[in-house]
Amino acid sequence: MTASPAGPRTLLALNWKMNKTPTEARAWGRELAGEYRRGKAEVAVMAPAISLYGLKEALPGGVDIGGQDVSAHESGAYTGEISAAMLRDAECTYVIVGHSERREYHGETDAAVAAKARQAQAHGLTPIVCVGEGLDVRERGEHVAYTLAQLRGSLEGVDERVVVAYEPVWAIGTGRTATAGDAEELAAAIRGALRERYGDLADGLRVLYGGSVKPDNVASICGQPNVNGALVGGASLGVGDVLGMLAALE
Ligand code: PGA
Repeated sequence: MTASPAGPRTLLALNWKMNKTPTEARAWGRELAGEYRRGKAEVAVMAPAISLYGLKEALPGGVDIGGQDVSAHESGAYTGEISAAMLRDAECTYVIVGHSERREYHGETDAAVAAKARQAQAHGLTPIVCVGEGLDVRERGEHVAYTLAQLRGSLEGVDERVVVAYEPVWAIGTGRTATAGDAEELAAAIRGALRERYGDLADGLRVLYGGSVKPDNVASICGQPNVNGALVGGASLGVGDVLGMLAALE
């Protein structure tokens, strides 16, 4: 089961985080190319910036690549940062912005996330804007209001060429997955907020779920009416798990 036929094609976005050297990344791409068959879901690999270069050639045709973060600045004296133009030149299609690990460990605010998303769009990249609540917010029952406020702030000045990923922080890397119902509750609320901002175009936009997605739960989560794919961390590292998820989505 995948998202409704009228909706956008399911996206399996793989977030490698700080894993895989350039050599390992290319070897992984070649391994996937040996077994990959184009199916219902689109696949994109979000690799560490230095491991992106040359990755697209190693991957099977039709598999996209993307960055995990991008500078809000165009170019210049920003030591250590990677620009949207650099990601684009390395053949990226997507870039993750506002991942909860960036928000938590690097103090990224909603305004900073929106600035990065705008910069990505200015260079033809599609930002994957991440939002989601922590455990304390969930336990207070404020997860919908919290996540929508974060979304509105993170989409300031951002146009409709965007993907949104709902990632409840308590489900990331913990093995504790939100239920398909939890994912749908927030995906539907996010769709409503996107409709307020972008009108009917919201129906064609992708809302992903992320947090401990793996081969045995990906189909039920992505089968929800408002969930158009998944952002996958831990289970994105092995080719076997990725093929398992793709098989489950058929
Ligand atoms: P996980 O990570 O699949 O390991 O929970 C998801 C993410 O952080 O994007």
